[in-house]
Amino acid sequence: MRLLVLFILGAVLGGAIAALAINAQQQRSAYPRGVMAVLQNDLGRLRDIAKVQPCDATGSAALLQRLRNATQEIEPAMYPQDEVDPTFHRYAEKLRVTLDQSMTAPISDCLALSRNVAAIGEHCDNCHREFR
Ligand code: HEC
Repeated sequence: MRLLVLFILGAVLGGAIAALAINAQQQRSAYPRGVMAVLQNDLGRLRDIAKVQPCDATGSAALLQRLRNATQEIEPAMYPQDEVDPTFHRYAEKLRVTLDQSMTAPISDCLALSRNVAAIGEHCDNCHREFR
């Protein structure tokens, strides 16, 4: 009887600890996934804007700026405590440089916007291929 009680107690406690661990794990990855979701959303909207001619210049400028701001969070989100992997940092930096360059193109240049959207997407893929 005592053994059975101990066994049940152990099973319940073990389950509770496992649930806590999984929960903590999910919360830790919530922020990086959130940052990525913002990037995904804004890049998608930028892609849609680039498809329509003439493109919505003010909309694209605001989205580029937002994307650029969000990329600032990539490293802190993924490496809140540890040192940032240099290769990871390089990928994020390349994305930021491309975004900075995209913002210097005249906002009414829809063809440039299409090209820039493609280049931005490539930087996302490059990092994902190695780190995701
Ligand atoms: C420097 C590296 C890096 C760059 C640049 C990057 N990502 Fe990510 N991305 C990751 C990593 C790592 C994950 C996996 C995160 C996880 O599951 O915790 C990820 C995951 C994602 C996800 C899935 C999120 C989820 O809920 O599982 C999306 C969507 C995404 N990225 C979109 C983008 C877009 C769009 C861009 C470009 C504008 C981009 N990423 C640029 C590293 C990067």
